[in-house]
Amino acid sequence: MKKIQIINGPNLNMLGKREPEIYGYLTLDQINTDLAQLSESLGLELVFFQSNHEGAIADKVHENFNENIDGIIINPGALTHTSVVLRDALAMMSCPMVEIHLSNVYKREAFRHKSMLADIVTGRITGFGHYGYEMALNAIANMINES
Ligand code: DQA
Repeated sequence: MKKIQIINGPNLNMLGKREPEIYGYLTLDQINTDLAQLSESLGLELVFFQSNHEGAIADKVHENFNENIDGIIINPGALTHTSVVLRDALAMMSCPMVEIHLSNVYKREAFRHKSMLADIVTGRITGFGHYGYEMALNAIANMINES
């Protein structure tokens, strides 16, 4: 079974409580439960990881590299806009990768318009709330089926 890593970066463990008017009322656990359900119908195995620490996320990506993971869905949180570390870690991957944001970063402060990952990921989804994760998983499933 193809294995997909779901990665959530800093502050996303606070979903549901954190600025819900921007990020919604679902917790990360609820989002992951919905994703796990969808993955069953798509025939994919999901593994979940959240960290508030840049280096811990780089370590996880290295693990994914070593195990030849089949796809990555990542909401890097604020690291999107700043992290060369994360960019370099993801740049070594050859599997499909989707960068996802709950909010539409282009409707927000200018510093959120820049992504360090935009030109190394397969595609990006921004502004569809928690549904963006499902869109990302469907997109990766299609890419895997077509390859
Ligand atoms: C976010 C957008 C980022 O700018 C922000 O720092 C986050 C969440 C989103 O999902 O909309 O932490 O990635």
